Amino acid sequence: MKKDLTKHIIEIFNSLGKTVPFEVCDCYNDTLPDWTNSIQLTHEFIVFCQDLSLKQRLQVFTGKNIFENGKYLYWFEGDKIFEAECLPNIEFQKLEEEKIQYLKTDTRLPSFIDDFIFNHLKAIYAPDFQRFEYNLDLTGEEIRKYLGTYFPRSYAESFCIFDNIFQNRVYQETITNKKSLSILSVGCGTGGDIIGLITAIEKHFHAISEINIWAIDGNIEALVILEQILDKVKLQSSKKITFKKNESVINSISDFNFENPPNSKFDFILSFKFVCEIIALGKGNLDYSYFDFVIKFLPMLSDNGLCILLDVTTKPKHNTYNPILMNKQANQALKVLNEYKTLLPIPCSVYSDRCVCDCFQQKTFTVTHSKHTNDKSRVTYRIFVPAKLKDQFNFMVNGTKQLINNDKICPFTNNGQLNVDAYLLQSTVE
Ligand SMILES: C[S@@+](CC[C@H](N)C(=O)[O-])C[C@H]1O[C@@H](n2cnc3c(N)ncnc32)[C@H](O)[C@@H]1O
Repeated sequence: MKKDLTKHIIEIFNSLGKTVPFEVCDCYNDTLPDWTNSIQLTHEFIVFCQDLSLKQRLQVFTGKNIFENGKYLYWFEGDKIFEAECLPNIEFQKLEEEKIQYLKTDTRLPSFIDDFIFNHLKAIYAPDFQRFEYNLDLTGEEIRKYLGTYFPRSYAESFCIFDNIFQNRVYQETITNKKSLSILSVGCGTGGDIIGLITAIEKHFHAISEINIWAIDGNIEALVILEQILDKVKLQSSKKITFKKNESVINSISDFNFENPPNSKFDFILSFKFVCEIIALGKGNLDYSYFDFVIKFLPMLSDNGLCILLDVTTKPKHNTYNPILMNKQANQALKVLNEYKTLLPIPCSVYSDRCVCDCFQQKTFTVTHSKHTNDKSRVTYRIFVPAKLKDQFNFMVNGTKQLINNDKICPFTNNGQLNVDAYLLQSTVE
């Protein structure tokens, strides 16, 4: 755990473009430095460094409270230190009641996919491999590193998000009469996002007999790998799966012309970690690509369709962080396309028409596979639906503090009482 956490902190500093000496201490088992005697230890691990100038950026990036003590910056990671034994019983009960229900964000790559990608396709798990800002030109070993490191993460993000949505009764009712589902993935790469979704459909929807997939990417090697993985999945699946790959290099999303789209609209539109690459490629000329994506693709959604736009939480060299760009541009685009609304995060479904915040929303997911236990990824995402479908969910946010990034609260819900996870869709409507 401490080793993983240390790697994870290195990734955080890398994302901030800094190499900073830091220490991670296990508050239960390590000998802590003397300066920590004057502070309250609240969680399992304490992380500290001496670069005070990073306080605000770390706070935005991690979503955690970053504290200062003399020459040290510090914050906490891991589980809360829960001193129940020191509390009278009644207070212990109160604390139990206040426990927040979070979206389940950890999963395991199914063993047959794990075996196929690592043993057959020779994927390489390379955690120290710096993610390229731009993956369109990856080939050979680079793609195999991408497959071993990032495919499982996208799988986990997609599976966990859909596993939660598919448990919701309102959503279940909207697709009870359907026999087939269609999926479009834009910038699909090797398709961790698609495979995560198919796995969730398999788990929840036994009456669905057919899944039709359209996948767009400019990298033909990635598309061929996805096709091989899908061939493997078809052998295990109870459903008929069809696949249409579309090799297209997208120079700008607004100018993109989808050739030979299907006659009907899509039940799912996914775009995972793709728009950030278009923005990076544009070097300042394509910074409105989240806006363009929403305007271009939401009209392709079916009446009960879900569109998920997900990205990494780093920043392009020339502009601010992706979550801030996504939040502002999604809100602007929904003002233009008012027949669509946000489903998740929940506060955006209620306040997006008036929100102009520099909002850094973020969720951490964890995946376990044969090459690594609890591999973490941090992403930001929005789920869009037709307005009529959103109205059926009838969210109530009054009285809640909506957590949008660890302990960070959506400012529109600051006055609420009960803490809730902004990314969790309850299984029934309240
Ligand atoms: C970071 S990968 C994400 C892949 C996949 N969605 C996932 O989550 O694993 C980004 C993908 O976008 C594709 N891509 C980047 N720029 C592109 C462009 N201009 N046109 C088409 N595809 C592009 C890359 O080839 C790559 O497969």
